[in-house]
Amino acid sequence: MKEGGPQAARELLDGARRVAVLTGAGMSAESGVPTFRDAQTGLWSQFDAVQLASPEGFRADPALVWRWYAWRREMVAKAAPNEGHRALARAQAEGRFESLHVVTQNVDGLHQRAGSADVIELHGNIVRSRCLAECGVAYAQPQDLPSGEPPRCPACGDWLRPDVVWFGELLDPDSLRAAEETCAGADVLLVVGTSGLVYPAAALPTAARRAGVRVIIVNPHLSEIDPAAHLVVRGTAARVLPALLGGEPESPAR
Ligand code: APR
Repeated sequence: MKEGGPQAARELLDGARRVAVLTGAGMSAESGVPTFRDAQTGLWSQFDAVQLASPEGFRADPALVWRWYAWRREMVAKAAPNEGHRALARAQAEGRFESLHVVTQNVDGLHQRAGSADVIELHGNIVRSRCLAECGVAYAQPQDLPSGEPPRCPACGDWLRPDVVWFGELLDPDSLRAAEETCAGADVLLVVGTSGLVYPAAALPTAARRAGVRVIIVNPHLSEIDPAAHLVVRGTAARVLPALLGGEPESPAR
């Protein structure tokens, strides 16, 4: 692993045909959506992860959990994609590479709102809900009740829950398989804004590197998965991604 600037990363990207991008909470930090593990501002420094993001926590106090997700939904609705999200969407739309696929751990939908297509959402989406009893019912956007309690599933009467992956739950196997294939099948994997602490997503960069993929990490801080990277660019998503993926760098003045 070595550290370098956007220029070194551009050189790695230069000959790439297939590019995969794995994003985490840091991708949305500059959109005003808090990360999880930042010691000062991260959600898990302010709230109890197991109480708010686990099946047990939901069963214990559905209204508390539902209100917390309602608050996060509102925050996400007010947020806008940042320059990093937009640079990824633009590179895909303009066909900068033969393929560019985004795999995200984020549940905020900001990649899609920026215009990225076919995003693989490993941890679900905060806007959607589904039946806790798994009766197969899914809802695009449920109505919040004045009581703060989750709405009931019209099919079976159990609670609706956010359509996200909670601690202790398995990822959707199809999404995980697609993510593994996308990351390991790329020429270059860009890993943006993830601490690399939550599995199985955290295993994707190492598996990709083992498969011969060049791995570039974009993160202003050290992360657990730095050793998996060929190159680490220490910077933020909104600043570094446009520099990596934008058009040709300005030619030097003649
Ligand atoms: N640009 C890029 N990276 C940033 C930025 C930024 N502007 N700001 C912070 N980061 C980095 C941090 O240095 C950190 O490494 O983003 C990372 C965020 O890490 P986490 O908060 O742990 O988020 P993430 O890795 O996405 O967490 C994985 O854990 O709680 C669960 O389900 C939740 O999907 C989440 C999963």
